[in-house]
Order: sequence, then structure tokens, then C-alpha cells
Amino acid sequence: MPTLQDIAAVPHQLSNEWIPTLPDAPGPRYLAFVRSLEKDIEAGSLKPGTRLLPQRDMAAQLGLSVGTISKAYAEAESRGLISGEVGRGTFVQRRRPATMTESPSSTLNLALNVPPRTGEDELIASILQDVMADGALKRLLGYLPHQGVLHHRDSMVGWLAQLGMPTTTDHLFITHGGQHGLSIAMGMVTAPNGVVLTERFTYSGMIALSAQNGYRLHGVDCDRHGLLPDALDRAFTETKARVLFSMPTLQTPTGTTMPIARRHEIAEIIRRHDAYLLEDDAYAFLFPAPPAPISTLLPERSFYIVSFAKCLAPGLRIAAMVVPDQFRDRCNNAVRATGWMASPLMAEVVTRMIHSGDLQRQVRLKREEAIRRNAIADDVLGNWLPVISDIPGFHRWLPIPAGRTLIALVAQAAQSGITIAPPGALQQVDRGTLGVRLCLGHPSTHDELKRAFIELRRILETAEEISFV
Ligand SMILES: Cc1ncc(COP(=O)(O)O)c(C=O)c1O
Repeated sequence: MPTLQDIAAVPHQLSNEWIPTLPDAPGPRYLAFVRSLEKDIEAGSLKPGTRLLPQRDMAAQLGLSVGTISKAYAEAESRGLISGEVGRGTFVQRRRPATMTESPSSTLNLALNVPPRTGEDELIASILQDVMADGALKRLLGYLPHQGVLHHRDSMVGWLAQLGMPTTTDHLFITHGGQHGLSIAMGMVTAPNGVVLTERFTYSGMIALSAQNGYRLHGVDCDRHGLLPDALDRAFTETKARVLFSMPTLQTPTGTTMPIARRHEIAEIIRRHDAYLLEDDAYAFLFPAPPAPISTLLPERSFYIVSFAKCLAPGLRIAAMVVPDQFRDRCNNAVRATGWMASPLMAEVVTRMIHSGDLQRQVRLKREEAIRRNAIADDVLGNWLPVISDIPGFHRWLPIPAGRTLIALVAQAAQSGITIAPPGALQQVDRGTLGVRLCLGHPSTHDELKRAFIELRRILETAEEISFV
């Protein structure tokens, strides 16, 4: 935090020169102004002590209303970028106070599957301000229906239709994130100690859920198109499992996407074994035309879960879950028992973004960023990374090269400041299918991402440096 002495020591330069060029980005103009201010301060082109134009003059220069500029100055002041002095003007501060989210990290994290940032935080901030300004907050702070407010469910029904999953507001439940949806769906279709079939390698949240509740995960063999029908059929017969957890689109950790014909085969097998499907479609939005979910083929046996963590922000903790007709009442009880209701305030944010088109714009930006980040991955690690999906996702699968061991690779990467996560290995895994997921979304810049890949390439190209005895 700048001290009073710091601020006082800054000589006040008189300059009427700083007039930002506001980018033509989505979102409110006042935030675009704050972003430009921030960027120029960070770049050093706008010096501490510079006096900004009076609000009215700035508004005239930019062709914006005085109200917008006044909001921008207030926001910049609250972020510690500028400070107003009565009778003297508004001055750029010496230093930006660090915020919790900005603490620099010395490690490069390729383990966390977070979406790359595309300006969603500023949009969400402005929507929260609108909610406070237009009086909606009071209503959203009450106890509201467990299933979710009808208006929120209605907009999410519209969103799911775009992902190729038609449903109704009666069948859609708003949950406290995808993990919450998975948790209550599992609780309804299996018991502690029950066997749950999954892809050979599966989502770490499902492994955590099983560790917590005693579900026994059983991995089913896959190829580059996902679950192998014969292997699934056999696994149902041998284990007597009644539930399959699957990610047919951009599976995590492997990145496979199941073609339509395979989806039909898998649906048929689930039906034949009188089983249920938990379909996690967290990454479908990355497809301009997503393949039809398996759940559309088996609505009476499917729980279909879409989180808004990856297309918007994990911290919203909002997801939509479609449940079979006969589970609606139990699901209502399950939501009540495990959290009463998902936060209506955050569901309101998502709803407003669906209505305004901001969510669709964010999705486009995230797809573009996925393309850029995958291009960097291919450029640096191309020899090591197979292209598994035609549509770029937020993660890539790195098969373990001959002569390497997974544990040493993870340890050696950690010593070089790169965090990668070993996959949850289920049952016996043959070497040919072993690998590790690299997540592309966490590094905040392309340079950082590239640096991590270059270091990883160095590790892969040299002899294993760590031996465990
Ligand atoms: C496949 C998959 N499903 C669900 C989730 C969790 O979503 P949420 O953060 O909404 O709980 C994730 C998060 O990483 C995920 O990768």
C-alpha cells in the first residue's frame, strides 16, 4: 500500500495529455477506461503524479457522458490508481496496491483447469453494480426456491438448448457448481460402496467424491473417441454397476471427444444394463456446434451437468443440472439438504449475461484464447503432444514418453517451478495409455505459458534426473 508519505512525495506533474484510446471490447465503457488507465500505469507511459483532465473535459475528449467518466474515476480511485484532491484535481498514484488475486506466483501452474481470463471479472463487477443500483439485490438475498428461481432456470434452459440439450424449467436444477451437481446426482443413483464406471482416467472431482463417499470407481478402456463400447458392456456385466460417469466432450484429463455414432452405442449399452448416466458437459461450449449429448438419447436415465465455471468463472459456483422426470422430487430434497439453494445472486449474474449476450461473447473470446494457447503448445511441444481433438480445449494430454516414469516427471517439473498433476489412475494401467494432463488456462500471459512448455520440453528431452530407490 502506498503510504501518505509516498503520495505526498510524488511531484504533481501538470499534464493535459493523457487521453486513452479505449479498446472496442465488450463491457461497460467506464471499465474500459479504468483498464486503459491501469495498463498505461503498468507500462510506465502514465507516470505517478500526472494530473488527469477534469471529468467534464475527459468526457468531451472521449465522446462519453460525464456520468460515465465520473463512474470511471470513482472506480479507478477505489482501485488505488488515482486520487482526487479537493481544489487541485485528480492525480495518478505512485503504486498500485497489491490485491489478493495479484500476488505473484513463482510456480507455473499447468495442473489447474481454470479458463483463461477474457475480461469476465470486469463484466461480472459491472453486473453486480447494476444489481445493487437497480434494487434487485434485496429480492436475491432471501430464501428462494431450492431448484432455483424460475426466471433463472428459464434462461439456463435457453443456454442448454444452444449446447444441444433441450429441456424444461421443471427438469433443470441450479446447483452450487458442477461438483455439487455431481455429488447430489451420485447420491441419488448409488450408495456408499457402490461401483461407478468411468473413463479409464477421470475427472479429479469424481475421485474426490468417491474418496469422500466410498464409491468404488472402475475405469473403462477408451480409445481416441472415448469409451470403448465392448469394454463398457463387459464392465457393466462384470461389476454389476448401475451408473456410468462420463465426459463425452473434451474429456478430462485426456481431451477425447466421442463421435455421434459412438454416443448412440454407449446409450444403447446403458439402456440394456438398466443403468444411469451422469454426463458432465463442462467443455461443450468450446464447440461452435457441440455434438448432441448422450443424455438427449436417454433423458429418462441421464443426469446432465453443465457448470458455468469454464465458460465464465469458477468462483460463481453456479451450474445447471437436468434430471430425469422421476428424480425431480428427490433432487429438490437433495439440494435443500446439501445447500438449501445455489446462490441466487450468482445465478442472477449468469442470467443477465445470458440475456445481454455477454455470455455468448465470453464464449467466443474463450474459444479464441483456447486456439491461441493450443497453438503455443503445438509450437513448443508439438513432438510430444498428440492432437486428440479437432476443437481446441483448455487442456492437452501428454503421453508419458518411453523410458520416463510419471512420478519422476511430476517431481522434476515441480523442481523447475511447474506444477502438473498426475491423473487419477484406476485399476491396472498399461504404460501405453499413461500420461499427464497439461492445463493451458492458468498462466496469465502467453509468455508464461510458453516458458512453462519450453522448460517441460527441456525435461522431456533430457534423461530423467530423479531416481527413486
Ligand atoms: C469436467 C469437470 N466437471 C466439473 C467441474 C467442476 O465444476 P465446478 O467448478 O462448477 O464445480 C470441472 C472443474 O474443473 C471439470 O473439469
